[in-house]
Amino acid sequence: MAQTFKKSFDLQLRVFVPLVLLLGASAALSAIYLFLPSNKDVGYRPEQPVEYSHKLHAGNLGMDCRYCHNTVEKAAHAAVPTTETCMNCHHRVKTNSAKLTLVREGYAKGEAIPWTKVHVLPDYVYFNHQAHVTRGVSCVSCHGRVDQMIKVSQVAPLSMGWCLDCHRNPAPNLRPVEFVTKLDWTPDRPAEEIGREIIAQKGINPPIDCAGCHR
Ligand code: HEC
Ligand code: HEC
Ligand code: HEC
Ligand code: HEC
Ligand code: HEC
Repeated sequence: MAQTFKKSFDLQLRVFVPLVLLLGASAALSAIYLFLPSNKDVGYRPEQPVEYSHKLHAGNLGMDCRYCHNTVEKAAHAAVPTTETCMNCHHRVKTNSAKLTLVREGYAKGEAIPWTKVHVLPDYVYFNHQAHVTRGVSCVSCHGRVDQMIKVSQVAPLSMGWCLDCHRNPAPNLRPVEFVTKLDWTPDRPAEEIGREIIAQKGINPPIDCAGCHR
């Protein structure tokens, strides 16, 4: 009797208890996964108050990203343009277009257009555009072919694993800094090779320690 009891108790300790712990842990992890706004945002493409098209302005008209997002090389955040920037052209182009009513009204009243943000990181993550763009990481690596999008859509998960994949091996995503806003740039020799040269030249070493991104 004593022997049987001991055996089954042993079995409980060795199999059952760890199993319960494992199930508990995975339930907790899936709950965290479900409630955090990660991974689910690929393809997010909100309606915007004005039918502004990147395909038309950045693609067809060939405007440089920095004409409008003029802080992207100098600051953590990439500024979204004010109505003044739009009116540089639209005070003479399409002046009667109904699609531009909100732009004209905003300009007259000195009010910003309430654009809906597409890419949003949680507050506990530190991100900086300048640090990436001035090292030769192109907008296309993180935002895709915005110059072909009528309405901006999120193409990357912006998850921790996604950031770390590149931080561990940035070489394939580096290019000479003069081409960072040229989204259709293609390397004339293996991208890895160019990347390794840039890493050596600039001493590039992206953070993979927790404090690098959680400050
Ligand atoms: C004529 C001005 C203009 C130019 C040029 C321009 N953009 Fe934009 N961009 C905007 C405006 C306005 C918004 C906000 C509305 C929207 O999301 O479409 C925006 C939004 C974005 C967003 C989404 C921001 C968010 O909310 O997360 C990205 C990414 C972006 N632009 C990248 C680019 C890239 C890359 C280029 C160059 C290929 C570029 N833009 C050129 C005006 C411009
Ligand atoms: C290494 C990845 C990466 C690169 C390269 C990058 N972005 Fe972003 N971008 C992001 C992330 C992540 C966000 C969301 C930031 C947040 O929520 O704090 C973002 C947000 C934006 C926004 C919304 C405003 C803001 O700062 O939150 C605009 C506009 C934008 N990016 C434009 C650009 C343009 C233009 C380029 C190229 C010149 C570019 N980005 C290069 C990752 C990148
Ligand atoms: C460098 C000049 C320039 C700037 C700056 C500019 N646009 Fe435009 N925009 C144009 C041109 C050119 C057209 C196309 C005209 C045509 O279809 O013949 C256009 C077309 C448009 C249209 C479509 C109008 C219609 O009736 O079809 C909208 C909406 C628009 N722009 C919004 C904006 C917004 C918002 C901004 C600022 C974020 C902006 N534009 C900045 C030159 C510009
Ligand atoms: C496509 C490649 C790529 C992606 C994706 C990427 N990074 Fe980076 N990151 C780099 C490179 C290259 C550097 C520059 C390292 C250097 O200068 O030594 C960098 C630098 C940084 C730095 C250091 C900046 C500073 O001021 O010290 C932080 C923080 C950072 N990245 C956060 C992030 C976060 C958060 C994400 C995801 C949302 C991300 N990165 C996605 C390539 C990338
Ligand atoms: C290269 C940037 C980067 C580094 C380095 C980094 N993280 Fe993160 N971390 C992120 C981003 C981005 C998110 C947001 C993920 C999301 O919203 O999906 C995140 C989210 C988290 C979360 C929330 C839960 C989750 O997984 O979504 C925890 C916890 C976390 N990080 C812990 C850590 C720890 C511990 C380390 C060091 C071992 C670390 N991080 C290193 C970028 C980074």
